[in-house]
Amino acid sequence: MTQAELVVVANRLPVDRVVGPEGELSWRRSPGGLVTALEPVMRRADGAWVGWPGQADIDVDPFEFEGTYLVPVRLSAEEVELYYEGMSNDTFWPLYHDVISEPRYRRVWWDAYVKVNRRFAEAAAAAAAPGATVWVQDYQLQLVPQMLRERRPDLTIGYFHHIPFPAYGLYSQLPWRRQVLEGLLGADVIGFQRVADAGNFARAVRRQLRYPTKASGITVPNPDGTTRNALAKAFPISIDTASYVELAEREDIRARAQEIRESLGNPKKILLGVDRLDYTKGIRHRMKAFGELLADGRVDVEDVTLVQVASPSRERVDAYMQLRDEIELTVGRINGDHDTMGHTAIRYLHQAYPREEMVALFLAADVMLVTALRDGMNLVAKEYVASRIDNRGVLVLSEFAGAADELPSAVRINPHDIDGMKDAIMRAIEMPAAEQGRRMRALRKKVRENDVATWSQSFLRAMDHAQTLNHAKSVN
Ligand code: G6P
Repeated sequence: MTQAELVVVANRLPVDRVVGPEGELSWRRSPGGLVTALEPVMRRADGAWVGWPGQADIDVDPFEFEGTYLVPVRLSAEEVELYYEGMSNDTFWPLYHDVISEPRYRRVWWDAYVKVNRRFAEAAAAAAAPGATVWVQDYQLQLVPQMLRERRPDLTIGYFHHIPFPAYGLYSQLPWRRQVLEGLLGADVIGFQRVADAGNFARAVRRQLRYPTKASGITVPNPDGTTRNALAKAFPISIDTASYVELAEREDIRARAQEIRESLGNPKKILLGVDRLDYTKGIRHRMKAFGELLADGRVDVEDVTLVQVASPSRERVDAYMQLRDEIELTVGRINGDHDTMGHTAIRYLHQAYPREEMVALFLAADVMLVTALRDGMNLVAKEYVASRIDNRGVLVLSEFAGAADELPSAVRINPHDIDGMKDAIMRAIEMPAAEQGRRMRALRKKVRENDVATWSQSFLRAMDHAQTLNHAKSVN
């Protein structure tokens, strides 16, 4: 078996399995940002990627794909239910997003989570060359760092947490709060989206494990009585900015943006929301605010349309099914009350689109609404900004999204404050072009300077640094 110097471990492989018309199987690169970000790094390092192929009960042998060695981890249908839908997305996801939906604590889910994390750790241990670097991704795999260290103390291990890490008062609900902290602390570098997330993590470590922390460093005891240093700090993730600029410059995509406006009846202003259909995104709050603006007569359906793209997500988890029902009821009510023959209040699309269509939508939208109640980063905010090469358009951004730390020139909102959000939407609709330009230029500067390559390089550099330190320690 091939062994790699750099191994990425993520719940999902960076490819989607596609079945052709004749039943033939092939793989297509997934559209995700992380995949794009790591592709050049993986190619250079002859890297390996350990992950689940996205379907239950399929056996796939490791294979080479566009310069990366892919190592599929098999999950049974029962494991998908208990580890992925249950523990990952009905316990950790709601708990880490400030219990917007009530987390469920089920011991059988936890048992499956431990078992599946062990399987990922074993696959990663087998794929890593002596002294290699392994980079574990996200909340589905929080136990992998420690499990990997136990098996392979020679490795340098990093972990990046893509979602928020909650305040200790919430985190402490978790029946397995110690095990998860110990699992994460198996890593040499633990990355978070925001400074506040890293702070919440350090506090949980102090309160639960009583390990000393200083600045970004945590002193972790080794089994032999010595100690080592783990780094826990913010590495805000970003997007492949240049690829959005490139799409936004394309004539066909610009024409498509025009076509979108026309097909909506050429409203004066288009508002846009783009989210996975998830209760963390504040889609209902956004619709409530917009519905009230229509009802109050502050906006007219002939002039303003809200386009809401809500891509299907985690459709077998109860909270997601319920949310979908609620949103679709709300859309139906608002449209029923306000639509005219020629204009709709909300154009709701429960679909996923290719990047080209998304950029056309970004170009068509005068106002982008990111109203998350809690969000690790929110890359859509950055994608909108990157696409606005004309320096026009307004980003309305929730302060509860990680992106708010880096994008202070957006119109900031608290999505729980419906009146405040209504005023912010009006301000965005009415904003003079000069102010739009000033703000958009400042926003664009941020996403140009900090793209996803900068992010992955700074994380990899931190892991390199940890490796040098560990090596120096073991030589002394
Ligand atoms: C969030 C998580 C990712 C996850 C993605 C899609 O961005 O941080 O880890 O992959 O949502 O969710 P899914 O459950 O479809 O993988």
